[in-house]
Amino acid sequence: HSPARQVGAAPAAHLSKVRHARPMLSLDNAFDEEAVRDFVGRVRRYLNLAGDAEVALIAEPKIDGLSCSLRYENGALALAATRGDGTTGEVVTDNVRTIADVPQRLQGEAPEVFEIRGEVFMSKADFAALNARLLAECEDPARARQFANPRNAAAGSLRQKDAAITASRPLRFYAHGWGEASALPADSQLGAMRAIAGWGVPIADDLERFTDLDGLLAYYRAIEAKRADLPFDIDGVVYKVDRLDWQRRLGQVAKAPRWAIAHKFPAERAETILRAIDIQVGRTGALTPVA
Ligand code: IVH
Repeated sequence: HSPARQVGAAPAAHLSKVRHARPMLSLDNAFDEEAVRDFVGRVRRYLNLAGDAEVALIAEPKIDGLSCSLRYENGALALAATRGDGTTGEVVTDNVRTIADVPQRLQGEAPEVFEIRGEVFMSKADFAALNARLLAECEDPARARQFANPRNAAAGSLRQKDAAITASRPLRFYAHGWGEASALPADSQLGAMRAIAGWGVPIADDLERFTDLDGLLAYYRAIEAKRADLPFDIDGVVYKVDRLDWQRRLGQVAKAPRWAIAHKFPAERAETILRAIDIQVGRTGALTPVA
């Protein structure tokens, strides 16, 4: 019954399912500047804008955590759900109530229904400390289970059966959007994000508004340069059309909005020494080599 034996991302049969009031979308990816240029071009064409019309975009970090939807009814947290397959997620309300960043009640005047969507994550320092603790608590250090990275640690911690274990894990939350809303607090992405921050829900510090491609690309390079020094893992930046009436007109294709794109960083590379390979035998006899 040791908590150290409960970590990992096994299917969480204990969590009940909920259908999202609005689907939780994913993002299309751009891997180079050309793809970002194409994205801005597509937005302009779809909106039938003149070549010199200004298109404002919000740039923000893409946090490497797991997506979560927080449903507030009359200002009170009523339901928290993971993304799941985007249509149906897992109910994690009791666990999310233990996250200090997530208010039980929104401050000020919030709409009757407002679903705040964002990322649950763990800082790099808290992840290292958690792994050290799991190792120290385990009677047989050779068999200690540890998390591979902060994202897995956040996912494993959020999807615990026992909310007391989640409470002992240093999870954080940053809002990056919304789902069902009985009213919107602004007519722009940036305005709405500022309203969400005003209700007491954290948003990333680095939100910036640009009206030209060069600004977006300079932002990308600046964030990439400070990536290693950020206290949490990011895997790129996200650009979003600021005007909400334009977002509505642009709509979505398959599971991703036309009004946003993720500009991904190249995968991190490092040199390492492979000391040994263990062959793990699965329940069905499948052999998995583990470095
Ligand atoms: S917006 C409608 N903004 O990235 C668009 N997503 O690869 C919904 N993510 O499922 C997402 N940081 O979990 C958005 N600043 C950010 C984000 C962000 C991280 C995650 C999110 C989404 C995934 C898509």
